[in-house]
Amino acid sequence: MTDPAGADATAWFRECYAAAPEGSWRAPGRVNLIGEHTDYNDGLVLPFAIGLGTFAAAARRADDVLELRSRQAPQDAVSVRLSELRPGSVTGWAAYPAGIAWALRAAGHQVAGARVAVDSDLPLGAGLSSSAALECAVALALTELSGLGVPRPELVRLAQRAENEFAGMPCGIMDQSASLLGQEGSALLIDCQSGAVTAVPLDPAVAGMALLIIDTGVRHVLADGSYADRRRECEQAARALGVASLRGITDDQEPVSRLSDPVLRRRARHVVTENRRVGEAARLLRAGELAACGALLTASHRSLRDDFEVSWPAADTTVEVALAAGALGARMMGGGFGGSVIVLAPVRQAGQIRADVGAAYASLDWAAPRFLDVAPAAAGSRVR
Ligand code: GLA
Repeated sequence: MTDPAGADATAWFRECYAAAPEGSWRAPGRVNLIGEHTDYNDGLVLPFAIGLGTFAAAARRADDVLELRSRQAPQDAVSVRLSELRPGSVTGWAAYPAGIAWALRAAGHQVAGARVAVDSDLPLGAGLSSSAALECAVALALTELSGLGVPRPELVRLAQRAENEFAGMPCGIMDQSASLLGQEGSALLIDCQSGAVTAVPLDPAVAGMALLIIDTGVRHVLADGSYADRRRECEQAARALGVASLRGITDDQEPVSRLSDPVLRRRARHVVTENRRVGEAARLLRAGELAACGALLTASHRSLRDDFEVSWPAADTTVEVALAAGALGARMMGGGFGGSVIVLAPVRQAGQIRADVGAAYASLDWAAPRFLDVAPAAAGSRVR
């Protein structure tokens, strides 16, 4: 299986190693319908896997060496002994797949040495979780090659651990969950406190709707500290409110207004109101009322912009132009400071939205945005 853009890890493996791989695995990127910066606050998220992803072709080695090659970074080939993997020992793109091998071993799984070649059709840094897709594709490859029957929920946690401790990005559990547990035709309602993952039907085409991703072209660096700052502020707010996490607060008025620090007050208000919006969106989807989710998406954007302060000018412009062109709702997606906007619109409005957003970018002298239509797709799996 290759994708429309033609990512083909098997051909890339042959090019790198002049041999055939034993198999090829694929893990998808994700889109988040709603629930931003709630996962690491024990909150609710509603993401889904998409049709674009990362492929990992691989073959075992007889020793304990892990070789990593990426078609997206051909000059950065990495070769390491599994026994020498330590957080910080591998940097750059290869920290994600090396981190998977490290996390599996740290959990007691006997990973064999391997040659891995990855290729991806996910735009990098567009807020579609290219790093989680990379981790998860390599996790599937290494576990199957080594004959390790690691259950998916455990693999999700190990991929998150790889990113947190090996790659140094303190992300929550959303992206890896969507990539390894996603289901075609459904978004996943994830309760990050209980760990419960529930499929919620989401088929935009059947409802005459489109879910349009608009890549603003602005690139964020999640490890640059702003994400970690927000996470720390949320923990401070929870401490000041006397709860283990902000999930412990369900009423945004009384308890949150008691916070004397205005910044912490805004951060907490975002998280508390966002959890409520996710719950409401899941209820609407189950009732077959996708269109009514639009207002929740737009409210989420305003909250991320004004209270959580992680939006960026191109996202704000995109949201306002899309709404003026007939979108039912729109919001920035992912960690913030760059990446994509998700727009919910009737199919018949989609062309106008693309045209108007494109024109707005041109009038501001911004590089043209990229558009992508998405719908919930299946989780990662072996493809060859
Ligand atoms: C990034 C992280 C996720 C989540 C989002 C914000 O995508 O990887 O865990 O925190 O930001 O919702």
